[in-house]
Amino acid sequence: MRSKAISTPNIAFIKYWGNRNDELRLPMAPSLSMTLDRPTVKITVEDADTFSVRSFLVDGSEKTLKEKDIDRFRKVVTLMRRYLGTIGAEDVLSESIAIAVRSHIPPAVGLASSAAVFSCLAKAIAGFIREKKELTNKQVSILARLGSGSAARSIFGGFSTLEEGNGMEIENSWSEQIADEHHWALYDFVTIPAMEEKKVGSTEGHASSHSSPFYTERVQAIRSRRQRECIEAIRTKDFEALQRVTEEDCLDMHHVMQTQMPPLQYLNAETHRIVDAIKELRTKEHLPVLFTMDAGPTVHLVCPEEGRSAVLSFAHAQKGCTIFETKVGSGASLIG
Ligand code: PMV
Repeated sequence: MRSKAISTPNIAFIKYWGNRNDELRLPMAPSLSMTLDRPTVKITVEDADTFSVRSFLVDGSEKTLKEKDIDRFRKVVTLMRRYLGTIGAEDVLSESIAIAVRSHIPPAVGLASSAAVFSCLAKAIAGFIREKKELTNKQVSILARLGSGSAARSIFGGFSTLEEGNGMEIENSWSEQIADEHHWALYDFVTIPAMEEKKVGSTEGHASSHSSPFYTERVQAIRSRRQRECIEAIRTKDFEALQRVTEEDCLDMHHVMQTQMPPLQYLNAETHRIVDAIKELRTKEHLPVLFTMDAGPTVHLVCPEEGRSAVLSFAHAQKGCTIFETKVGSGASLIG
């Protein structure tokens, strides 16, 4: 048996930060994102004698994985088997599988590479077991969540949530699509100031998020208002409302990160410079554009068609930055 899938990152408008159960990645609050159309990750899953993970770069050469990276995959596959057990599919997935990852994403630059990788792995595994057990997209999103919370959202194209859910069981949080990729043509010009790998990954960051004195307030604001406002802005294609709630939530998440113990500073001087410059341009030219940053210094500049050419020129004018030109994408799919 052999199965192959393709997937992409997503950019969160309402950020996922912190869990009620770290091992199972059950989030404290709901989140929401737009799935991007690139860069892509492809994963092949095959029967094998022992468990293995191999990773290949764009040029086809093999990248040596660290023991801790292989371990993360092993743990995720064990959790996936555990979840499959809860839906009557205990034995459909063997622990002896060979996983091959082909990624076009530079690692750890705040481009949610774990979202693309684990949504892709979940989809490839769904394909791998499909003759024995057909999974719904909701079930595939649960598999993806076990690798990385944000990965659950990349299963769907367009705009999707990670639902908080209730309870402490493995199946108690999943992703839902609010609108597909044809609903609203938004672009994300991903502006990457530094290609260095980040020091503290989001898995560790989530675990200490609760230590910020502003954490409870953040969770309350998302639950009571922000998530709803964001869904409404997307449904009605109200870009100004989307900008307001996205920027509010992004700055709030970074405030929590900077005040948790140990503090996490993912933004750098370049991030702030780019954000200030886009704000100035937006006011001067009445441009529809919003900024948002995940766990890294990378600035995502999101705009509708009307802002496209001006925002793109702005992004390319940022010295020393790598730019990915992306738009709303169609989510994870099987390719073999
Ligand atoms: O899915 P994780 O564990 O890599 O967490 C992602 C966290 C953020 O990118 C900062 C926010 C988000 O919702 O994508």
